[in-house]
Amino acid sequence: MSDSGGTIEVLLQKDHERIDGLFEAYGESASQPVPARREAFAHFRTALERHIRFEEERLFPAFTLEDPDRAAAIDRLKEEHQRILAILPRIDALIAPSSGDTLEVEEELVNELWAHNAREESGIYASIERTLTLEAQDRLGAEFRSWSV
Ligand SMILES: [Fe+2]
Ligand SMILES: [Fe+2]
Repeated sequence: MSDSGGTIEVLLQKDHERIDGLFEAYGESASQPVPARREAFAHFRTALERHIRFEEERLFPAFTLEDPDRAAAIDRLKEEHQRILAILPRIDALIAPSSGDTLEVEEELVNELWAHNAREESGIYASIERTLTLEAQDRLGAEFRSWSV
């Protein structure tokens, strides 16, 4: 692929890093008023939900699931997505006025998300190049860029 954005594998890895950065920015907003914290969390949440939706609606279906090991790996990633997505509204609720301490739930999210991203990067992302045709990779890359604007 000749686009400056890189291959779909690189684009997805960069998006993990971008989302990590948005979570850090949210963390740095801890001493700020509630509206600023909510806004920082919303930026992170929107980016993460979009990333997960792209993986489930576009990336994972691009892989043939005839290989039972791959099907099991993708099922596991989807289960992790569900756990990650379920934590997000819990943090959002805690940031609200009369809020509780968000630290414990944030730790839960970080543990889930970071392990999940590492599993994707060494698993399905690493297999993109040898599994999907160049045409399929290019198509996914173009779609991902159009989702990211
Ligand atoms: Fe994922
Ligand atoms: Fe991912």
